[in-house]
Amino acid sequence: MMKSLLSTFLSASVIISLTLVSCQQPGKNKTGSEYFPDMGHSIAYEANTYSYYYYNTWGTEDEYHQMAQPRKPVKGTIARGYTGSNMDVLKGMASHNGISVTPNAKVPYYYADTEEDRTRAMAEIIKNPYPITTTGLEQGKNLYNIFCATCHGEKGDGAGYLVRDDGGKYPVQPANFMLEEFLNSSNSGFYHSIMYGKNLMAGYADKLSYEERWQVIHYIRSLQAASQKKEYSEKANTFTTVDIPASTLKSKESLEPTTAPTEKSE
Ligand code: HEC
Repeated sequence: MMKSLLSTFLSASVIISLTLVSCQQPGKNKTGSEYFPDMGHSIAYEANTYSYYYYNTWGTEDEYHQMAQPRKPVKGTIARGYTGSNMDVLKGMASHNGISVTPNAKVPYYYADTEEDRTRAMAEIIKNPYPITTTGLEQGKNLYNIFCATCHGEKGDGAGYLVRDDGGKYPVQPANFMLEEFLNSSNSGFYHSIMYGKNLMAGYADKLSYEERWQVIHYIRSLQAASQKKEYSEKANTFTTVDIPASTLKSKESLEPTTAPTEKSE
């Protein structure tokens, strides 16, 4: 009896003193302290709320409402931190402008989702801005197998899992990259398709960053080259005339993408 009373008293006093110690009101000479402040003060972002101010004088309520809506970035601009290349990050170097570059970089693409602009892109964007590297090809292979191979096949022959003979469910034949038409296609034939898709194929611009798209294209080129018994690697490229194997570049610095061909002015 006596014992249990004592232990109740003891544990109660431990709890009380812990409570007293863990949270202290701020006073004249002390800042006070809080236990788990991140629970007390939410770190959630403020919502972009619309709260019309009654004494607002510069426009109608309608105009004010429009200003409070989320807006698209100004055409042709790139948000801070979205400058297009994560090569620096891959090489473990800081970015040039001191702004951290997110892997999902954004580069403007001045071609619309039309057949006319597909043709224009194919004539104007020729070169893969990234040199051919072993790591790039590996990255491209991973991404290709995740995003493209289900339809276009791991070999690029258009015989992916979704269109297989024994019960594939896909209603149309995905492109066979081993056909003459695609062997001879300029790089942007692939780039444009990744950006917008084509007919039943959806675009992959929101899934693949700028660099990732180009690494996927490098990988598709290497598949094509292998089918033609040609080489397309960091060491040599006997398949296309425009893409540069990294080993033929002089310095590490030139691993930088060359001027992005998609950055043409309108
Ligand atoms: C869900 C299936 C599917 C996936 C996944 C898919 N594609 Fe396609 N793709 C198609 C189909 C179907 C076509 C044929 C469209 C047509 O010509 O009507 C096509 C066509 C193409 C073409 C040829 C466009 C032309 O000019 O005729 C390219 C290039 C291409 N895809 C690249 C890719 C790449 C790269 C990926 C991965 C990032 C990918 N596709 C993922 C279904 C797919």
